[in-house]
Amino acid sequence: MAFPENGELRTLISREQIASRVAELGRSISQEYAGRSLVLVSILKGSFVFVADLARAIELPVRVEFLGVRSYGANTKSSGVVEITQDLTRPIEGDDVIVVEDIVDTGLTLTYIRNLLANRNAASVKVCALLHKPARSRVPVTIDYLGFTVDDVFIVGYGLDYAERYRNLPMLAELPGGD
Ligand code: IMP
Ligand code: MG
Repeated sequence: MAFPENGELRTLISREQIASRVAELGRSISQEYAGRSLVLVSILKGSFVFVADLARAIELPVRVEFLGVRSYGANTKSSGVVEITQDLTRPIEGDDVIVVEDIVDTGLTLTYIRNLLANRNAASVKVCALLHKPARSRVPVTIDYLGFTVDDVFIVGYGLDYAERYRNLPMLAELPGGD
C-alpha cells in the first residue's frame, strides 16, 4: 500500500470516474477548438496532474504553458492578490487560451489570472476547472469546462495538496479536518 498511514482519507471521486470525465472534457474541447491556436495554461502547482491527462485527451496540436502563482500573505485563506512565481515561456497574444485550474473555491485567484491573461491580448480566455466548490464562492466566475461540483470539504489528491502532501494520490479524497 502506497499510503498506509492515510486510513482517514475518504475517496470522493475514484480514478475511473476522473478518467471518464477528463475524456469527455477533452472531446468537447477538441470539437470546439478545431482549427484554432489553443494554449493550455496550467496553474501550478495544483493542476499539474489534471493538465497532463487533459492534454492527452485533446486531439489537437495544443501548446502547454505553466503559470506559477501564490496567494500573497501568510493567511491560508485566499486573498485574491496573487504573486506570479513562474511566468509563461512565450507570449499568448492572438492565441485561444484555456486556463486549467484544479479547484475554484472563492474564485478570487481565477478572477485575477483571467484578467492578467486578457491583458496580454489573448484572442480568447476560457476556464477549465476540475472541481468547483460553489458554497465558498465570493466572486462570480464562469467555468466553461467543469469536471465535478463538490461540497464544502477539504479535498486532496490528483494534484491537490494539504501542506504539499497527497498530490500524488490517484483519486480525489476528503481530508477530514483539513482547511
Ligand atoms: P480561490 O478560488 O482563490 O479561493 O483559490 C483556489 C485555490 O485554493 C486552489 O487553486 C487550491 O490551490 C486551493 N484550494 C481551495 N480549496 C481546496 C481544497 O479543498 N483542497 C486543496 N486545495 C484547495
Ligand atoms: Mg491551485
